[in-house]
Amino acid sequence: MNWPYPRMIAHRGAGTLAPENTLAAIRLGASFSYTMFEFDVKLAGDGVLVLMHDATLERTTDGAGRVAGHAFGELARLDAGSWHSPAYAGEPIPTLERVARWLLRNGLMANIEIKPCPGREAETGAAAALEARRLWRGARALPILSSFSQEALEAARRVAPELPRALLFGELPEDWAQRCLALGCAALAAHEAGLTDPVIAAAHRAGLRVIAYTVNDPARAAALFGWGLDALVTDAVDLIAP
Ligand code: G3P
Ligand code: MG
Repeated sequence: MNWPYPRMIAHRGAGTLAPENTLAAIRLGASFSYTMFEFDVKLAGDGVLVLMHDATLERTTDGAGRVAGHAFGELARLDAGSWHSPAYAGEPIPTLERVARWLLRNGLMANIEIKPCPGREAETGAAAALEARRLWRGARALPILSSFSQEALEAARRVAPELPRALLFGELPEDWAQRCLALGCAALAAHEAGLTDPVIAAAHRAGLRVIAYTVNDPARAAALFGWGLDALVTDAVDLIAP
């Protein structure tokens, strides 16, 4: 399949250098010449898609409680930057729409990780895929939709089969290839510790690209690319050149 993506993808925008999953982080990643960005997307209580890793607000905002328990209007008032450092005080939780428009305007690419709140897997997968289709209509490179949730990816496939999918794994199960192929995935997205030369070769034989996360060691990145890895997700945007 068409694979217009770069080898290096910035994790949560710019890894740990800026508050994860904010537009400020993506801008910082872009300042290091990264051209593709992974970020986590879930539904606010009123169905708006927002960038947020955790199901709850405490770690990365000055709010409290569940993301799904708040309408976007409430989330938009939170400070999602101060927890990281004073320079980012007041940085808001962005919507998928806002981030998509900024990326497209700047000719940059996206890996949308669908990160459903518990119990909202299919709903989140379908909503993210429909919104991605709408926002990236006519774009040069479609966003890759990835998820640890097979249910979310199945729902995404049902509503927008043309968007490329990647199934995420922590530890690789025996049947990783069958699970990826059953979802019509373009890629296997695996924790880097489970990736070996034979695994990458087997994925390629199965017609799958391979994305590794989260690779922060330049020597490990070089080894993985030596085995034919297609792309990796990194926090080390300042250490590993895109
Ligand atoms: O998409 C790769 C990586 O982001 C998965 O783990 O927890 O950082 O979302 P996490
Ligand atoms: Mg992620």
